Amino acid sequence: MALYSEKVMDHFRNPRNVGVIENPDGVGEVGNAKCGDIMKIYLKIDDEIITDVKFETFGCGSAIASSSMATELIKGKPVSQALELTNKAVAEALDGLPAHKLHCSVLAEEAIKSAIEDYYRKKGVPVEKKTADCANCQHNCGK
Ligand code: FES
Repeated sequence: MALYSEKVMDHFRNPRNVGVIENPDGVGEVGNAKCGDIMKIYLKIDDEIITDVKFETFGCGSAIASSSMATELIKGKPVSQALELTNKAVAEALDGLPAHKLHCSVLAEEAIKSAIEDYYRKKGVPVEKKTADCANCQHNCGK
């Protein structure tokens, strides 16, 4: 069996929503200290709906595919729904990631949450810190 699914390869080769949004309503940047990869997510939000989302990822193929899929999953969705996005859902939408690459999808979940937290912070709304779904993550981050 191939290590990576067709979907992972597709999103890695043709990533969706790559780039920067000028004057975003929320920006989130997270990194993984172990592998050194960095992911940045920009959000445009109108009336609590994510009307646009872009990402910049300096990282592995799985991180790029995860960013691409995650942005597709939250585009056009309410902020409340995007907050519920788990790394597991991102990995499932990609038809799976190898176990040692699941932490790459955690980066996507965390970057989106961080961008939404930034959006709420700018609006002056306190937001409960949500942590990633660690159940299936091999990344030994100590959470
Ligand atoms: Fe670092 Fe994939 S190896 S995010």
